[in-house]
Amino acid sequence: MAVEILFAPLQGVTDVRFRQKHSAQVGGVKEYYTPFARLEHGRIRDKEKRDLLPERNRGVPTVPQVIARDREELAPLCDTLQQMGWKRIDLNMGCPFPMQYHSGRGSGLLPHPERVAEMLEEMKHRPEVAFSVKMRLGLEAGDECLRLLPMLDESPLVLITMHPRLGVQHYKGTVDLECFETFYAGCHKPLAYNGDLRSVEDIARIERRFPRLEAVMIGRGLVEHPRLGLEWAEYQAKRDSKGRP
Ligand SMILES: Cc1cc2nc3c(=O)[nH]c(=O)nc-3n(C[C@H](O)[C@H](O)[C@H](O)COP(=O)(O)O)c2cc1C
Repeated sequence: MAVEILFAPLQGVTDVRFRQKHSAQVGGVKEYYTPFARLEHGRIRDKEKRDLLPERNRGVPTVPQVIARDREELAPLCDTLQQMGWKRIDLNMGCPFPMQYHSGRGSGLLPHPERVAEMLEEMKHRPEVAFSVKMRLGLEAGDECLRLLPMLDESPLVLITMHPRLGVQHYKGTVDLECFETFYAGCHKPLAYNGDLRSVEDIARIERRFPRLEAVMIGRGLVEHPRLGLEWAEYQAKRDSKGRP
């Protein structure tokens, strides 16, 4: 089966109005991930809550994303989203902004297996929610993800999205496909690849190299070329009619 297209969360860009418009006027995307929601003074900020109101997201396949430093922060975020009716939650384990990782959130979680383990435990206590994580290779070292792999594999996660850069790299340098390959080889969960895909050819190249991928997640490429998901579907239809190589 060909890979699905997921719209990556882009803080300041992919808000509810953007997601509604893209879904209604373009499409070609299986799911839209929201920019992360976080706690402020013990509750989700109003702006983020408004973005996640179910009535504003109706008709759009949406996955709300949260960012938290530990189980204590994750639990109230899940409570609020569940009270709003969400049954799907993505945890951000990749944010490269120093303000987030210095406080142990986003990619700041990756060197701390004990905190990740507690958060996965919290997810197990909420079987009515399908959880996923979006992560990087590590904060400072590419093998941090490998240390997390056994517990991720044993968790109830329905998807892992990997952006193969380090947190400290921000968006600089190239993605590390060798390290991604090592993670891919050991990972038994449904896996999505994310990073620097800007054309149908880029997607096809990743799919050929990693045929077990469930999906690719695309951010900037879809903002620049909103029809990329549709073009991917057209490419697949043509390819399938000719017989896949
Ligand atoms: C402006 C901006 C905002 C972002 N906001 C988020 C976010 O809220 N949550 C998240 O998981 N990733 C966020 N990201 C990372 C993207 O989702 C994605 O992982 C990254 O851009 C690499 O994918 P791409 O090359 O397809 O854009 C952001 C990236 C950018 C450039």
